[in-house]
Amino acid sequence: MESGGERRNISGRIERLVRRFIPSTAVLTRGWPARLLDAADFPSRLFHPEFRELPPNHLRVRVGTGNRVLFNQSQFQRLGAHECLDMFSRGWLKPDSSLIDIGCGCGRTAAPLRQAAGFFGTYLGIDVDEEMIAWCRTHLTDERFFFEHADTYNSVYNPAGSRDAYRLPVEDASQDLVISYSLFTHLLERDLLNYVSEASRALKPTGTMVMTVFCLDHPESAAGRLARFSFRHPVGEAMVEDAGLPEAAVAYPSRFLIESCLNSGFGAARVESTPGQSQLIATIEP
Ligand SMILES: C[S@@+](CC[C@H](N)C(=O)[O-])C[C@H]1O[C@@H](n2cnc3c(N)ncnc32)[C@H](O)[C@@H]1O
Repeated sequence: MESGGERRNISGRIERLVRRFIPSTAVLTRGWPARLLDAADFPSRLFHPEFRELPPNHLRVRVGTGNRVLFNQSQFQRLGAHECLDMFSRGWLKPDSSLIDIGCGCGRTAAPLRQAAGFFGTYLGIDVDEEMIAWCRTHLTDERFFFEHADTYNSVYNPAGSRDAYRLPVEDASQDLVISYSLFTHLLERDLLNYVSEASRALKPTGTMVMTVFCLDHPESAAGRLARFSFRHPVGEAMVEDAGLPEAAVAYPSRFLIESCLNSGFGAARVESTPGQSQLIATIEP
């Protein structure tokens, strides 16, 4: 009989093979394939009213649903709810926190946070994808929630964007928390360093930054991931999956991630091995 490990190995191998031809599922979510993805979503919306509030399927697939291009609704909801619970339970997010979510996508974290009775702070979501920001602005209306389009370059998500370094639209030392789920997994060194330095500028002295990452030193937490990815191509400090579309999937050693924070004004930084993606956690105070 096949063990779980063997099964993961086989599916990982198949996935790596497919990825040679399709380096990122995000590239399949524009034009007519987007319409197909949305049409396939129609029966679920018809029979399950609770799914009607979710973003359209092509946007859910664009932000990543573990390659599940159909029937990914509950997985999408679960991940967002888990993110919120994690932030509250670990004490990073307080009821009145001011929070920036960089690479907020189509509101996977914002939607459950907006419904959390215990949150009355402010949320600013930033993303390079104009369509996702437009969807969030229309569907997640709330006087405490703001969404900003950052027209900055990313080969997968905004290939026509500006190459200038992006500045977060907030005052110095004004925020309690800066987060991103699966943003640094799509950034090369220059953009990652810019966001680390911007987060450090934006945070209050008591503030915290939590970014999920693919960490090359955590094969145990990333076991599923590393079976799915090979990260064979070096680009500066990063190892990328696809040399032709480097921002499709990017991994870093923990040394680089920690040093980047300490060199940008954070007093302490660590990378924790957590299931799925690891977490880079940095605080302004040591
Ligand atoms: C894997 S998706 C994750 C989205 C969201 N955090 C979630 O969990 O659903 C990565 C997101 O980062 C955004 N992104 C990529 N490069 C960016 C950049 N330089 N600045 C801001 N957002 C960026 C993409 O448009 C995309 O929405």
